[in-house]
Amino acid sequence: MSKSKIKGVGFYVPRNVVKNTDLENIMDTNDKWIKERTGIEERRWVDNDLTTSQMGTYASEIAIKNAKISKEEIDFIIFATLSPDYYFPGCGVLIQNNLNIREVGALDIRNQCSGFIYGISIADQYIRSGMYKNILVVGSEIHSGALDKSPRGRSVSVIFGDGAGAAIISKSNDKSEILSTHLHSEGKYAKELAVIQPSTTFWVDKIINNSSNSDIGFYPNMNGNFVFKNAVLRFEEVINEALNFSNYKTEDIDILITHQANLRISKYLQKKLNLEDDKVFNNIMKYGNTTAASIPIAISEALENKKIKNGDLVCLAAFGSGFTWASALIRW
Ligand code: ACO
Repeated sequence: MSKSKIKGVGFYVPRNVVKNTDLENIMDTNDKWIKERTGIEERRWVDNDLTTSQMGTYASEIAIKNAKISKEEIDFIIFATLSPDYYFPGCGVLIQNNLNIREVGALDIRNQCSGFIYGISIADQYIRSGMYKNILVVGSEIHSGALDKSPRGRSVSVIFGDGAGAAIISKSNDKSEILSTHLHSEGKYAKELAVIQPSTTFWVDKIINNSSNSDIGFYPNMNGNFVFKNAVLRFEEVINEALNFSNYKTEDIDILITHQANLRISKYLQKKLNLEDDKVFNNIMKYGNTTAASIPIAISEALENKKIKNGDLVCLAAFGSGFTWASALIRW
C-alpha cells in the first residue's frame, strides 16, 4: 500500500493588521482582556474585495511551488472552510478555476476548525488506496465580514481572524509519512458553536418576510466556556489516540501544532502533556483564530522558523464547531 506525506505548504494572510487597540475603537473591549483571555495581540481582517477562494488560491500557489510539482500533477482538490464565497457551489471548484487546474474532482468539507485535518485524512486515504498521487488540501477563511461587533458578540468577534493555508499531500517514496489520522464528532453540541442563518431551517424567504426576525442567527454564536472545557478534554484524548496508535509516548513528540483557538488552550495542553516550550508551536498571537486555515498557516511558519526538521515526529490536533475534533501524526 502507498503511503502519503505533506510535500509542500504555503499560506496567505490579508495585509490589513487589526491590533487589539484598533478593536477598542470599534467595540466595547480592551487589549488587556483579549491578551489575558486569548493570547491574541493582532489579527488580519480583509479590507478589500478579497474572497475566501482567492486567498486559498494564493496559499495554494506557494504550496505547489514548495512541493516542487506542477499544477498539471494535481489529481484532486479538497477545500475546507466555514466561510465560503457562495452558499453554493463550494470553493473547491472556484480554486480549480482560479488555478487553472485540469478538470479533476473538487471536494468541499464543512468541519470548521477540524477541517484541515479532516482534509488531510481524506487525502491520505486516497493516496494509500493508490487512486491519486498529489492532492491539494486548502483551509481558507474570511470571518471579518460576519462578526457581531456589538457587546452581545464581543467574546467571539475578538478571537477570529482571516487567512488561508494549503498543503500538497503526495505519495511518499521516502521515510516521511502521515502515520495516522483520527476523526471524531459529537453533533448533540452542534448549536454550542454555530452560525444558523441563512439555512434551510431559517430559509431566506422566511427571513425577508419576517420583519421582526432578529439578526442574531447570522453571527457566530458560541457558548465559550462550554466549548473551552470540551476542547481541552478532546484535544488531549485525540493526541493520545494518535500516539497510542503508533506506540509513541508524549515525550516522542518533536513538535505539537494544535488548531489556534486560544493560547490558554494550547498552554493548558502543553502542561497536561508535559511538553517543553520548544515542542509546541503557537502563532495565534499574530493571526487570531483562523479556523480551517490555522493549522496549515502554523505548519508553514514553523517550517520557516526551522521548528520542524526532516525526521521529526509532528503531531497535529484540532477541535471546533460540530463538535468535531481530529489529530494526525506525521513523520516529517
Ligand atoms: N472584551 C472585554 N470583556 C469581554 C469581552 C471582550 N471582548 N468578551 C467578554 N467579556 C467579558 C464578559 O462580558 C464577562 O464579563 P462578566 O464576568 O462581567 O460577566 C467576562 O468577560 C467573561 O466572559 P466569558 O465569555 O465567560 O469569557 P471566557 O473567559 O470564557 O473567554 C473565550 C471567552 C475567549 C471565547 C473562551 O471562552 C474561549 O476561548 N472558548 C473556546 C474557543 C474555542 O476553542 N473555539 C473552538 C474553535 S472555533 C470554531 O470551531 C469555529
